[in-house]
Amino acid sequence: MAKIAVVYHSGYGHTAKLAEAVAEGAKRGGGDVALLKADDLSTPDEGPWDDLNSADAIIFGAPTYMGSASAGFKAFQDATSKVWMKQGWADKLAAGFSNSGSVSGDKLNTLQQFAILAAQHGMLWVGSAEPSGFNMKEHTWADATNRGGYWLGVGAHSPVDASPEEAPVEGELETGRRLGERVAKAAARWVKGA
Ligand SMILES: Cc1cc2nc3c(=O)[nH]c(=O)nc-3n(C[C@H](O)[C@H](O)[C@H](O)COP(=O)(O)O)c2cc1C
Repeated sequence: MAKIAVVYHSGYGHTAKLAEAVAEGAKRGGGDVALLKADDLSTPDEGPWDDLNSADAIIFGAPTYMGSASAGFKAFQDATSKVWMKQGWADKLAAGFSNSGSVSGDKLNTLQQFAILAAQHGMLWVGSAEPSGFNMKEHTWADATNRGGYWLGVGAHSPVDASPEEAPVEGELETGRRLGERVAKAAARWVKGA
């Protein structure tokens, strides 16, 4: 069974809901899943680093704040420099998800930040394979999966006046589950082939 770690930051609970969906999807894909908070990993010597070091795949998640990953995630990102020194995460799989108040809100920049973080660690990036759910007239906004049309990872939308109970909506959560599932299945193949 492949080990999947999902590490995320969430200031107000919306990205946490998406992280739970990604973790659920990774379990659906047969993964042994650890759901970790970036807040608990803000320094290199404290926190559940073993769960990350022993994972076959790590999925990064953060809300987009001011056009990039939130400061809470960036603290974790910088704390990974110690493991980077030894390239301890080389050849693990990686993927990512973000969530923001605007439909775009520059989430792509956050996903690119995650992909570059993964590249610096020598990890292999797994994108989303979800078709665009909102690019035809008959598509409905509320039900669509991948309604923002992101493939580098998952980009979900939570209006700023919506509670985490209201957003991200089910279509966005299912998009997250499918990314988690894809990563878990890819990791199982990757581990078997190693
Ligand atoms: C400091 C701050 C900066 C933000 N910057 C952006 C932004 O650049 N783009 C955007 O679309 N939404 C932005 N938002 C809205 C959040 O991305 C949105 O409310 C998101 O759902 C918050 O996720 P969370 O509940 O997991 O913290 C910002 C919110 C805060 C608090």
